[in-house]
Amino acid sequence: MDLQQLKPSREQDAAIYLQLYRRFRESIASGKLRPGDRVPSVRSLASELNLARGTVEKAYQILVSEGYFVANGAAGTVVSPRLGNLAEAGRAKVAAPPAGAATRELDEAGKVLPFQMGFPALDAFPRKVWARLAGRSLRTLEIATMSYPDPSGYGPLRRAIATYLGISRGITCSHEQVFVTAGYRGALELVRHTLLQAGDLGWYEDPGYILARQFLEHSGLRLEPVPVDDEGLNVGIGQQRAANARFVVVTPTHQSPMGSALSLPRRLELLDWARRSQAWIIEDDYDSEFRYHGRPLPALKSLDRDGRVMYTGTFSKVLFPGLRLAYLVVPASQVGKFRDTVNYLPGPGSILPQAMVAAFMEQGHFARHLSKMRAVYAERRAWLVDALATTLGEQLSVQPQAGGIQVLTYLNTRQSDKALTTAAEAKGLAVQALSDWRMRKSSQGGLLMGFANFATPEEAAAAVRRLKVVMANP
Ligand SMILES: Cc1ncc(COP(=O)(O)O)c(C=O)c1O
Repeated sequence: MDLQQLKPSREQDAAIYLQLYRRFRESIASGKLRPGDRVPSVRSLASELNLARGTVEKAYQILVSEGYFVANGAAGTVVSPRLGNLAEAGRAKVAAPPAGAATRELDEAGKVLPFQMGFPALDAFPRKVWARLAGRSLRTLEIATMSYPDPSGYGPLRRAIATYLGISRGITCSHEQVFVTAGYRGALELVRHTLLQAGDLGWYEDPGYILARQFLEHSGLRLEPVPVDDEGLNVGIGQQRAANARFVVVTPTHQSPMGSALSLPRRLELLDWARRSQAWIIEDDYDSEFRYHGRPLPALKSLDRDGRVMYTGTFSKVLFPGLRLAYLVVPASQVGKFRDTVNYLPGPGSILPQAMVAAFMEQGHFARHLSKMRAVYAERRAWLVDALATTLGEQLSVQPQAGGIQVLTYLNTRQSDKALTTAAEAKGLAVQALSDWRMRKSSQGGLLMGFANFATPEEAAAAVRRLKVVMANP
């Protein structure tokens, strides 16, 4: 390696020996210096870089004491051969961000991009109420919010969630069964560590929620794609393909992204399969609060007589995703195991936001907010659907969806949905390709669109016109 790359700068604030020490560490992490490589003697490096010998010696001493270098007496000093893994990790190629990940962030002006999915209507959130609750929590700073958090979640929030689920989702549970988690992935992580093992096989809806799929695969689980149709997850096909699976992840209220509800016969079939094969059902009830026609079926969990369903809900859609709060309801028989596991995981984090959500629920703001948002979303959805019909009616067919805050459209053209999404992204439009949500290939392309943040019909119409331009010249 070119030793001049190690040369410290006189202009930096950090002491010269510290700079030298850091340069060596960086060279090791990036693979420029490999485990076992001989490093120059103190004398030769000092003269090469025009430094005092004492300065180089000091840097080498730290590198030896921290295990980066091994001094072999007269044989010289080498990069520790035991650093093999570290150097590998440093050289590892950074994986490309998952498809759709970019659309989780706001644009440079701090705004939600047109069609961006996963965001509730941020403009309609009752910020004043929230700020008042926050102010109160911070001013009073009750002792209960200053201690170490309960790793299962803040008690009053767990109680508020149990009450809410009883009323709105037909789930009878005690607060002991409720675990507050850092987002939906926190809930999946908790199930993964408590009930599953690396290599376990599970059914996954195809198409299905892309981020959770990537998370589960990353956690060492194997997923068997199971198709969905108008009745939701095809339980019969799941049994044919992988009857011995250990778990299934399902969105029964409003399949993500196709929008169908899991029919009652299939719910019973799924519960029966789980009972017979002692498999776990992870029910993802991410947006059941928003429904525009028909009554939602109660949660699958409400039919769970054998304690096989792990129910999850999130505050990302009903409040806002920056909170990073979700929850998991486990069968009473499993509470002990889950209580053990939470002691070894990072948990849901700070108590204060949990205390604010609890107050928001207890004081009736939550119920008011939800009922206001149902009307807001019904209106915004209609703006988008109308604009699509007027401007892109021939190119796209809007799929009927009873709820949610996104719209699925099928492409009537023979264009590739992935290519269109890439072209749209370049123009600042955050539509997503249905193909990216699929595990197996299908000829039916589609575009997924969020509508929650269109504040006026004109905004929705303008975004659709921009999409039309992209579709005409992809
Ligand atoms: C299908 C589905 N499940 C769960 C979630 C909730 O995820 P999180 O709690 O990480 O925001 C989302 C959010 O977009 C979702 O689309």
